[in-house]
Amino acid sequence: MSIGSESNPLRVAIVGSGPSGFYAAESLIKSDLKVEIDLIERLPAPFGLVRSGVAPDHPKLKQAIEVYKKIAQNPEFNFVGNVTVGKDVKAKELQENYHAVIYTCGAETDRKLGVPGEDLQGSYTATEFVGWYNGHPDYRDRSFDLSHETAIVIGQGNVAADVSRILAKSVDELKHTDISQHALDALAESKIKTIYVVGRRGPAQAKFASKELKEFLEIENCRPYIDPKELQLNDVSQQELDAKEGRGNKKNVEIFQKFAESEDSGKPRTCISTFLKSPIRLEGDGRLEKVVFEINTLSGEPFKQSCKGTGETMEIDCGILFRSIGYNGVPIDGVPFYDRWGTIPNEDGRITSEHGGDVVTGLYTAGWIKRGPSGIIGTNRACAVETVEMLLEDVGKFGRDKAGREALYKILDANNVKYINYPQWEKIDAAEVAAGEPKGKPREKFTRRDEMLAIANG
Ligand SMILES: Cc1cc2nc3c(=O)[nH]c(=O)nc-3n(C[C@H](O)[C@H](O)[C@H](O)COP(=O)(O)OP(=O)(O)OC[C@H]3O[C@@H](n4cnc5c(N)ncnc54)[C@H](O)[C@@H]3O)c2cc1C
Ligand SMILES: NC(=O)c1ccc[n+]([C@@H]2O[C@H](COP(=O)([O-])OP(=O)(O)OC[C@H]3O[C@@H](n4cnc5c(N)ncnc54)[C@H](OP(=O)(O)O)[C@@H]3O)[C@@H](O)[C@H]2O)c1
Repeated sequence: MSIGSESNPLRVAIVGSGPSGFYAAESLIKSDLKVEIDLIERLPAPFGLVRSGVAPDHPKLKQAIEVYKKIAQNPEFNFVGNVTVGKDVKAKELQENYHAVIYTCGAETDRKLGVPGEDLQGSYTATEFVGWYNGHPDYRDRSFDLSHETAIVIGQGNVAADVSRILAKSVDELKHTDISQHALDALAESKIKTIYVVGRRGPAQAKFASKELKEFLEIENCRPYIDPKELQLNDVSQQELDAKEGRGNKKNVEIFQKFAESEDSGKPRTCISTFLKSPIRLEGDGRLEKVVFEINTLSGEPFKQSCKGTGETMEIDCGILFRSIGYNGVPIDGVPFYDRWGTIPNEDGRITSEHGGDVVTGLYTAGWIKRGPSGIIGTNRACAVETVEMLLEDVGKFGRDKAGREALYKILDANNVKYINYPQWEKIDAAEVAAGEPKGKPREKFTRRDEMLAIANG
């Protein structure tokens, strides 16, 4: 029987249930072939960074989950949660038992600054802070020392905006969101008064979305501020703002102007954006006490300006720092990986044996692990569609007889893995919503695997 018929469905394993995993499933379901999809996820909860990355005070952005819920109801779709590929089942075993495997496992670790003192106590990654306030089980037991008055956030992208905003907001502004209770309790005790958000390039190059930046003007307890002198731009930056592609940056600079003009109305916190500074050293006796920055200048063509140190330095005393300088993929044993980019090497979604190597039949990738850690939730739809188009073109090359799910379950049972299906996740979901209700929260997330599995198993 040809692959994709009622008696021999196209059997696809998708690894990772974030946006790219769900959009890949959606694309397969929309194809003319009969498909059998197993979406394998290492956590007992689906939705990747939409659940554990998107900020709790941005509930609208989580509405993508409603689309994923619909996809999950399709009879061609099956969720296999609490299964780590590379550990509970080998990549090779998936390859042997499915016609095709799509890796959509995201970029789960952080980039390093590579400066002395980076790992001093008090210096954290945005990854762990975000995971902690969003109830990701891997970060449940982290603690952040919020007893200091000055915090520094390195990086000027949307994740840095999220981290700074969560530090800046009052508990009253957060308590009716789905922020995890342990984080809310710790933030209630925060002594932070000043938050520096530091960029290595200038105001015209900051990567914030204007909408996110503007929100700082509305925070109840915090005044956003910029020293007006920091808004003097070089000619090339001005050209960038005047160009059509620079519209977003221009809006950002207009918002920065408002920060510079903002009056001190006695709000207890201040969030200071500052530019053209690269951390060169974190210092402290056993724990972070100050950061030494080198002052930068910009050079290069419009939209390609890079920063270069001037040799001049300045210091900021601080007790806590968050590195928010982007993400990196984590290699899975048995799956090609290109260290330099932190991604799976691929040609338009077809995995290659190495960077620039030959295509490996039957292996595909989509999302952040395919193209690197940039782009919003929606970006992953087109990315996954492209990958599935490649997969569907290749169907004729796949081996015919693949046991798919039946073989997967046998392997997981043999390895004693407690996997959960979608209805079991729905039980966890309902219990979270119920736990949030008395607190006026959309949900109170369960943050421990055992707790989640106990609920899943009724
Ligand atoms: C902090 C943060 C906030 C963001 N906020 C927004 C926002 O507000 N709006 C917006 O549009 N975009 C936002 N983004 C971007 C958006 O989240 C990403 O574009 C998107 O999640 C990437 O999708 P993905 O499927 O490639 O990866 P992910 O969402 O990371 O999903 C990957 C999944 O794979 C699983 N996985 C990893 N390894 C394995 C394995 N070995 N076996 C099984 N499963 C595995 C992970 O547990 C995870 O569930 C944010 C990103 C971050 C980091
Ligand atoms: N609400 C939302 O829509 C939302 C929320 C969160 C995340 N996201 C998306 O998720 C993606 C990832 O966001 P992100 O903030 O992690 O990444 P990002 O947008 O790439 O920002 C990374 C920041 O870190 C800086 N940086 C990188 N290396 C550095 C170094 N060695 N020293 C100092 N600074 C350094 C970058 O500066 P340079 O510009 O100089 O490289 C940039 O300011 C983005 O596409 C983002 O839009 C969206």
